[in-house]
Amino acid sequence: MTMTEARDCPTILAQTATAVGPLLRSRVCRLPERIRHVCGLHFGWWTEHGTARDAPETRKLLRPALTLLACQAVGGPARAAHPAAVAVELIHNAGLLHDDIIDQDPLRRGRPALWATQGVPAAILAGDALFFAAVQALVGAPGADVSVPVLLDTVQVLIEGEYRDVLLETGADREHEALQVAAGKTAVLLACACELGAAAGGADPERVRHLRAFGHHLGIAFQCADDLLGIWGDPGTTGKPARSDLRHRKVSLPVAAAMAQDSPPARHLRELYRARTPLGDDDCARAADLIEQTGAREATERRALDHVADALRHLDRADPSPVPAAELSSLAHLVVHRDR
Ligand code: FPP
Ligand code: MG
Repeated sequence: MTMTEARDCPTILAQTATAVGPLLRSRVCRLPERIRHVCGLHFGWWTEHGTARDAPETRKLLRPALTLLACQAVGGPARAAHPAAVAVELIHNAGLLHDDIIDQDPLRRGRPALWATQGVPAAILAGDALFFAAVQALVGAPGADVSVPVLLDTVQVLIEGEYRDVLLETGADREHEALQVAAGKTAVLLACACELGAAAGGADPERVRHLRAFGHHLGIAFQCADDLLGIWGDPGTTGKPARSDLRHRKVSLPVAAAMAQDSPPARHLRELYRARTPLGDDDCARAADLIEQTGAREATERRALDHVADALRHLDRADPSPVPAAELSSLAHLVVHRDR
C-alpha cells in the first residue's frame, strides 16, 4: 500500500494493533504452557478457564507504533521493524507486571492486576518470561547484533528508573530525582522503540540518534502527562483509583515540582507527605489543591509541552519522510492530550 495521506492517531493505533497484535500473540504462544496461560491472562486474551475473550483490543500499542513509524520515517518498510515492535511491547508488559507487584497496585487497565488474581510468583515469572521473549523476538532477526544490546541496555536503565522511583516514595523531594525517574522508567523505552525502528529501517547513526532523542523527549512528556492524570485524571477513563499516586504519597513530577518550593502550600504538602500511612480521601483532595496552589500543575503541563517541542525538533533533524513524520508528530501531541 502506498500511503499518500497521514493517518489520524486512532487509525495509526488500530493499524498497529492489526499488524503487531498477532505477532505479539504468536510470540507469547511459543512460551511453555503454564506460563503462556498467565501471560495471556495479563494481556486479556483469554479467561482463567482458557476461553478466548473477544473484547476489542483496548491497549494502545504506542511503543510499537513509534517503532514502525521511525522505520518508515527513514525510508524502511514497516515490516522490517516488526521484531523490534514486538520486543518493545513485551518489555513494556514485563515491566508493568513487575511494577504492579512493587507498587502493590491491584488494578491494571481497569482490570485486576495479574499478581492480584494469580499471586505474586506467577506475576514475577510472567514478567521474566515476557522479558526473555522480547530478547528472543530480536535474536535471529536482521540487525540482532545491534538491537539486542540496545534492548538489554534499555532494560538496565528501566530497572534503575524503577528502583529510583521506589526510593523516591520514601520521601526524598528532589525534582531532579523525579526527572531521573521519568527518564529511567519511561523515556528510555520510548527512546529504544524509536532507535530500534530507525535502525531496522537502515538509518545512518545521526538519524538514529535524532529519532532516539525524539523518543526520549516524548517519554518525559508522557510521564508528565501520566503524573498529571495520576492526580487529576478521571478514574472512569484512567482505570486507576482517583488520586492513587497521592494516596500512596508518590513523589511524582507535579509533587516534586511543588515540594521544591518554599511557599506555605509547599510546606503543607511536605507535612502531609510526612505521614507514614496512605493518605485518606480528604488528605488527597487537600494535597491536590496544594499542588495546584504552588503552580506545579501548570508547570508540569508546560514541561510536557516543552518536551514535545524538543521531540519535534529532533524529529525534524532526522530528516524524516513527510507522512511518517506527520504521524509521529500526531502521536507526540496525543501523548500530552490523552485522558488515560
Ligand atoms: C510504571 O510506573 C513502571 C514502568 C513503566 C517501568 C517498570 C520497570 C521495571 C519493573 C523494571 C524492568 C523490568 C523488566 C522485567 C523489564 P508507574 O507505577 O508510575 O505507572 P503505573 O501507574 O502505570 O503503574
Ligand atoms: Mg505502578
